[in-house]
Amino acid sequence: MGICMSREVNSCVSDGDKQSKQLNFIDLFCGCGGFTLGMERAGFKCLAAIDFNAEAVATLQANLSHIKHVIHRDLTAFPPVELSELIGVKHVDVIVGGPPCQGFSTARQVDGANHGKRLTDDPRRHLYQELLKYVGFFTPKVFVMENVLGIKTAAGGEYFSRVQSEARALGYRVHGQVEDAWELGVPQKRRRQLIIGTRVDIPGYFLPTLKPSPRAIPRTQLGAALGDLPAIRAGSGVDECDYDHALRAESMLHKVTRNYLTKVLEVEQAAKLTKHVARPHSDRDLRDFARLNEGESSAVAMRNGVEFEFPYDKSSFKDRYTRQSRFAPCSTIVAHLSKDGLMFIHPTQNRSLTPREAARIQSFPDWFRFPDARTHSFRMIGNAVPPLIAEAVGLAVTSFLGEENSVKKNDIESEDMMQIPKNEIEALEWLLPLLDIESRGLRQVSNFKLKRGWAAILFLYSGLHPDGSCERGCISNDVEDYPLVSSVEPRLLKPYYKLSGWPVVLVPVAEEVWRRFDGKEYCEHEIYCSDAQVAGMNYRTCAA
Ligand SMILES: C[S@@+](CC[C@H](N)C(=O)[O-])C[C@H]1O[C@@H](n2cnc3c(N)ncnc32)[C@H](O)[C@@H]1O
Repeated sequence: MGICMSREVNSCVSDGDKQSKQLNFIDLFCGCGGFTLGMERAGFKCLAAIDFNAEAVATLQANLSHIKHVIHRDLTAFPPVELSELIGVKHVDVIVGGPPCQGFSTARQVDGANHGKRLTDDPRRHLYQELLKYVGFFTPKVFVMENVLGIKTAAGGEYFSRVQSEARALGYRVHGQVEDAWELGVPQKRRRQLIIGTRVDIPGYFLPTLKPSPRAIPRTQLGAALGDLPAIRAGSGVDECDYDHALRAESMLHKVTRNYLTKVLEVEQAAKLTKHVARPHSDRDLRDFARLNEGESSAVAMRNGVEFEFPYDKSSFKDRYTRQSRFAPCSTIVAHLSKDGLMFIHPTQNRSLTPREAARIQSFPDWFRFPDARTHSFRMIGNAVPPLIAEAVGLAVTSFLGEENSVKKNDIESEDMMQIPKNEIEALEWLLPLLDIESRGLRQVSNFKLKRGWAAILFLYSGLHPDGSCERGCISNDVEDYPLVSSVEPRLLKPYYKLSGWPVVLVPVAEEVWRRFDGKEYCEHEIYCSDAQVAGMNYRTCAA
């Protein structure tokens, strides 16, 4: 496929730091390696990357050839024990993975296949279970699963809550958070759902906000990614050519473009410009493209009186074409680009984007090469986690794991130290009186009593994340977790909110705790008191 590369990934972590405490990870459903590359850039060592798509695996291996185990296997038929024997490792620090998203995509809301009454069974929706099998076997400190936002709503949130409750049953504290690619420096509108699990014996909480990688500038516009690429016509371009250095020098005058080209795309490390080849379009399509202003979709143009030639029903296909703008984030780069590029018309040229342009908009460096076949390239680029996002995730995981000890120390040094129950009986004594007080009445409860109640919640429910207490949505009565609690007081278990796992009865208490936190009466270590959760877990392990 014309790829032959081997390189050291340019990490933003210093060599000294890397050697002293390099954390390792496994990437499941690795595709061509967007997640892998970003995690390596954040300083992690990849032990293995697995996918059943031959072209994707070959691409990853060719670009990141220092990774010893890039494995072409179907994860439904490749048990973790087999991987463990192959790599000679029983525990890993982190597992990341992006199971296929088609089963959750809101794009399929139209035919009802993913949502509502016409929901059809799609085996791809169950692939998260393969990831959890690996989590159960390797017991990583942290796992991160990436998916489309639709996972939260598909089948009324069924799968989103299943992932979380099944992970809690494996001994993980789980929460969901949404990453916004544009805020993290990727010139694209792309929002994705992360589900993050931290092993319950690990103190501290993985907090919601991801910070951009040091190499990124938030809200970088599309123009920065295309800056130095030579103009080509539809149907032209070659698989490999020289860069236009004069054009590059000109683009470098602009600070944000210079940053994106040098730090994110690492253009100086690529000897040749590759895959800058534009697909051909019919004359009719080209005439229709020419009718669009920069940043305009055919729907908007039609509202402004523009007439298009395309022969499809103008009411249901009105958004058929979109010309992107240099001065805004690009629309979400999707695998569908392999079929047509009509929603991705170049801002100033009369053609759709090339694979290299799509890869740049996904923050893949220019030295990363893609297969010769355009459809394969577009599909793996659109499927990928942008390396810049994966790097931000990796840096957040490193910082979370690095803070393990300092969190404990802060708690101990605090003057207003959290009280932690000695056992479940004491936890229930602290908590139960609060449950019969109405929301307004809870405002009168002393700080001392409320804090003890909150510590009791954390002690009793080691799998719940404090941030989840703000989630609402569907309510369930299926009992899964915490049998000891339910035997004393069933409402402590059910009903519970499906998305977060939080029992409904606890929520007024949580809301009052958050209200006082917002009013600065409580500080962060009291809300995120993982010592109470770890103590509860240890207590239950000893009692069992
Ligand atoms: C959303 S993509 C993952 C992209 C990847 N995380 C990245 O950053 O490049 C999903 C991947 O899952 C792979 N896949 C789907 N079912 C699989 C299975 N049963 N076993 C292994 N890989 C599978 C697909 O080939 C595809 O590459």
